[in-house]
Amino acid sequence: MTSDQPEHARTGSETLRTGSEPAPTGTDVVLEARGVTKHFPLRRTARDLFARERRSVHAVDDVSLRLRRGTVTALVGESGSGKSTVARLLAQLYPLTSGEIRLGGEPVAAGRGGSFRRYVRRVQLIFQDPFASLNPVHTVRYHLTRALKIHGRAGNGKAELEENLAALLGRVQLTPPQQFLDKFPHELSGGQRQRVAIARALGADPQVLLADEPVSMLDVSIRLGVLNLLRDLKERLHLAILYITHDIASARYFADTTLVMYAGRIVEGGDSERVTQHPAHPYTQLLIASAPDPDRIAADEDQEETGTGEPPSLITPPAGCRFHPRCPQAMERCRTELPPRFDLPQGQWAACWLYEGAAANGTEPVAVRTVAKEATR
Ligand SMILES: Nc1ncnc2c1ncn2[C@@H]1O[C@H](COP(=O)(O)OP(=O)(O)OP(=O)(O)O)[C@@H](O)[C@H]1O
Ligand SMILES: [Mg+2]
Repeated sequence: MTSDQPEHARTGSETLRTGSEPAPTGTDVVLEARGVTKHFPLRRTARDLFARERRSVHAVDDVSLRLRRGTVTALVGESGSGKSTVARLLAQLYPLTSGEIRLGGEPVAAGRGGSFRRYVRRVQLIFQDPFASLNPVHTVRYHLTRALKIHGRAGNGKAELEENLAALLGRVQLTPPQQFLDKFPHELSGGQRQRVAIARALGADPQVLLADEPVSMLDVSIRLGVLNLLRDLKERLHLAILYITHDIASARYFADTTLVMYAGRIVEGGDSERVTQHPAHPYTQLLIASAPDPDRIAADEDQEETGTGEPPSLITPPAGCRFHPRCPQAMERCRTELPPRFDLPQGQWAACWLYEGAAANGTEPVAVRTVAKEATR
């Protein structure tokens, strides 16, 4: 937002919150998933007629996470690991197979109509492709006005609406607003389109933003600007942000907390700096080893190509730890017993048998440079 814009733009009884205003008080955890599971049943085939159970894609299994006010939580994992499904479950776009979602400490019941609208007002989803999420036949003004009206925040009369539209665009640093309001999506750059999509989400005055790969379709040169904008919104509006990405390096830069997902389960979590610099789970180590890093290439010129293998089938996921078929450190029990979450120093944790009793005996994950070298051998 530019400094000459009003701190508060009145919308009837509502006020568009701006940076300097304190966010509503309450519990630090805004949105929470507890043991959330989603299985997508497969269409029946002749073979299934004789099967006892209907086969399904185990897209998300027993996922628990907490999104805190004024905090970015990254959810990192390779394609098909279930990241978008988690975002859609948190946005109430799919019913849960099991588990529970809590907003502001209260369990949310899957519903439509009024209860769904109230939920959406507080939890907004931003998609990867802003071109697909904005209607090409409508202007920026139309998209933002509609969002404000749906959420009862358009204000009284034309002047207030204009003020609120300008405030929304200011918040995503599209200024002066007159330059953008009457543009169509195709007249904007990719970064500007994503900013409009973010402004539309802010039109609801949400507490939570679920950003599903918000920069992966953008040119590398403008990604940082959009991430910085999201960080600015986190700080000024105290938003809880879920940042979904393939790119663990951006999680280190942008997120406070990082969760790593593999084949439908969260396998590691903790402070982003810890998880990216001292990854504990062999899968996180593999992710980091396969991310391009000029320093590491220079240091380890003799390294061989990373042997990464293939992600498993989610219809019949491997027993025990789902990563065991690819894990260079797999032990016998990993093939049969699902590892629970083991706590490590400094709030980090990993679902890996290597760390059984780690908190008690002070086991520390090794530093990233050593790990990367080991994992690429
Ligand atoms: N509506 C659906 N019906 C059936 N299967 C689905 C559905 N949505 C997702 N899946 C399956 O669930 C698994 C997880 O998909 P999801 O899109 O959540 O992964 P992702 O981590 O977001 O992947 P990407 O990084 O490619 O976006 C995949 O195997 C996918 O095919
Ligand atoms: Mg996805």
